Amino acid sequence: MNEQKLVDTARMLVANDKGLLAMDESIPTCNKRFAKLGIPQTEEYRHAYRELLITTPGLGEFISGAILYDETIRQQKKDGTPFLQVITEAGIIPGIKVDMGTQALAGHPGETITEGLDGLRDRLQEYAQMGARFAKWRAVLTIGTDIPSQGCIEANAQNLACYAALCQEAGLVPMVEPEVMMEGDNSLEESGEVTAEVLQTVFQQLYTQRVMLEGIILKPNMVLPGLTCSQPASVEQVADATVQCLLRSVPAAVPGIAFLSGGQSGEVASAHLNVMNLRFRSPWALTFSFGRALHQPALDLWHGKESNTLAAQQALLHRSKCNVAARQGEYKTEMDGRTA
Ligand code: G3H
Repeated sequence: MNEQKLVDTARMLVANDKGLLAMDESIPTCNKRFAKLGIPQTEEYRHAYRELLITTPGLGEFISGAILYDETIRQQKKDGTPFLQVITEAGIIPGIKVDMGTQALAGHPGETITEGLDGLRDRLQEYAQMGARFAKWRAVLTIGTDIPSQGCIEANAQNLACYAALCQEAGLVPMVEPEVMMEGDNSLEESGEVTAEVLQTVFQQLYTQRVMLEGIILKPNMVLPGLTCSQPASVEQVADATVQCLLRSVPAAVPGIAFLSGGQSGEVASAHLNVMNLRFRSPWALTFSFGRALHQPALDLWHGKESNTLAAQQALLHRSKCNVAARQGEYKTEMDGRTA
């Protein structure tokens, strides 16, 4: 394992106030988003959409890394240029989602375990040879009556740690993603408690599996009240709860924390990230690794039509700029055409 290379890559992913573009939706998830807009759910359309994203002029000015899916990492532009080459030439570090999705966790109704460890060593080697430099694994935890259980938290943390150790062995930076979902009626406080417990268990397991913390990126959820919670939280309350939870749970050796958006709108996710960076000087870089909050507006505008490509790319660039501003504590709602 070349430790310095891992450290350098992890630092580069969070450097210069940039963040990551998560375009790693699995085929079923991508198709679901297409279906909502009436876009044909075919390889041709998924290919066209991903080509639109990575060929956005100037994207590398704001985006440090892009997370791809197995189908996408093997694709080429219409002119034959491999997607990986397009991304690298734009100054963006290519990464890959390597988990195989969730399955019901035996003995734990309503809970899931993320699978994909079988054969992972070989898959990582192939991706590294292709040019990927980091890899992502997402675990899913749900808040509800008596859940998440200790069994679910521990099983997912163990899998995350085994995957992370394999990534570092293969020379890939693990992007460790334990996502506490925002569905439910739980309060902001409950979300903070569960997220802290999950993160603390994940870091215990990373330590047990001898993962070098300087060579990982953490991709957590922000601490939010559940979607159906009757007590809404202000942007400041979310920022404070999130950073407090992270300070209690994430070792300072970790170079960067790149949030998932988890269904927040682009504007709300930018506002939360902005206030965190405005109010706190944290030991890790606080950045974004958004999927929907970064490129859903682009997908809405594109709608499967080539004639909308430019407008969609402008929308992606706009959200990227807003989030770079949020990293600097300089995002203003006026950037999104809203009065403060
Ligand atoms: O695994 C989920 C993605 O990497 C992030 O997607 O920002 O839409 O939650 P999201």
